[in-house]
Amino acid sequence: MQHISKLPNVGTTIFSIMSALANTHNAINLSQGFPNFKSDQKLIDLVNQAMHSGFNQYAPMPGNLELREAIARKFDLLYATSYHPETEITVTAGATQAIYTIISAFIRKEDEVIIFRPAYDCYEPAIALHGAKTVSMQLEAPGYAVDWNAVKSKINSKTKMIIINTPQNPSGSIFYDADMLQLQEITKDTNIIVLSDEVYEHIIFDGEKHQSVCLFSDLKSRSFITASFGKTFHNTGWKMGYCCAPKALMEEFRKVHQFNVFSVNHPMQKGLADYLKEPSHYLELSSFFQEKRDLFLKLIADSRFSFKPARGAYFQVLGYSDITQDYDVDFAKRLTMENGIASIPLSVFNDENKDDKVLRFCFAKTDETLKMAADILNRI
Ligand SMILES: Cc1ncc(COP(=O)(O)O)c(C=O)c1O
Repeated sequence: MQHISKLPNVGTTIFSIMSALANTHNAINLSQGFPNFKSDQKLIDLVNQAMHSGFNQYAPMPGNLELREAIARKFDLLYATSYHPETEITVTAGATQAIYTIISAFIRKEDEVIIFRPAYDCYEPAIALHGAKTVSMQLEAPGYAVDWNAVKSKINSKTKMIIINTPQNPSGSIFYDADMLQLQEITKDTNIIVLSDEVYEHIIFDGEKHQSVCLFSDLKSRSFITASFGKTFHNTGWKMGYCCAPKALMEEFRKVHQFNVFSVNHPMQKGLADYLKEPSHYLELSSFFQEKRDLFLKLIADSRFSFKPARGAYFQVLGYSDITQDYDVDFAKRLTMENGIASIPLSVFNDENKDDKVLRFCFAKTDETLKMAADILNRI
């Protein structure tokens, strides 16, 4: 049988490649973005309890109502804004499914979608699968600041969506109030939908405030927010998340959601609803991860790597141009195979694989792992 691939340029993701290489060479794995410490036992117990209490059949299509209500309370508490649990919040199988479903619900052939690079890797294939064009705005290391006039110049009658991600994976940069105001300004009076990927909303450092689209009323009216419990509660393997948007947008989302997944894991939804009753479970995350970032950077302060401290998310970008001029993919592989430490080369997230000689290291690891990683990096 012969078939023509719908995604001819997509191969195995760099995350799978680097993790497999790390396993083969028994290397410390700071490549893939997941914690190597346990999720809170209390949350595990709550999910267990939900199973024993019979939450084992299909959840309602938009999600367990208690969980949607808990999410609505979180928006009220953190951003003093409201999303109606009945009509404006939907629980999803991780942020990835939410992102795919949003794109699927709104993007048509020949539409244009603006993304910022380096970009998380699930946006572009979803855009391509719907016959649309990705318009890339390449941001420059090490600051990764956005030139909003340049973004404005890319907007035309075909522009259907802009995808933003703050705090950003892989760069660890964030959008500030001024960025959001400019985004609001250039999308005002247009039909552009903003997909705001906010999976790291609770991981932001140095006293900065997460600039959610929901804080800006005109932006909120045209935006989806996607979120991930896996990133927030150290259990990426559960693949639980949610999205929210004004009612009219959410109605369209649910038309697709009900046929591509219908509803997601019910006992976990019930466990998460109970766990969210205690806000400290997410309010303490920024200081928890800031300590890890600071420890990691202190330990490698005398190494030959250069850096600008991550402002959010749990990734630190390290520059290596004082060490070698090797292509970043080659250098990342060499570090894994010969030195025993795995990272992610940033060129794979860039326009035309632009190579800034930087690697991404995930610091969502135990202090012991970070110390072992630093020992290796200091010897390079
Ligand atoms: C920016 C970004 N968006 C979305 C996701 C996917 O989240 P989930 O695991 O909940 O699908 C990730 C995971 O690494 C991410 O970094």
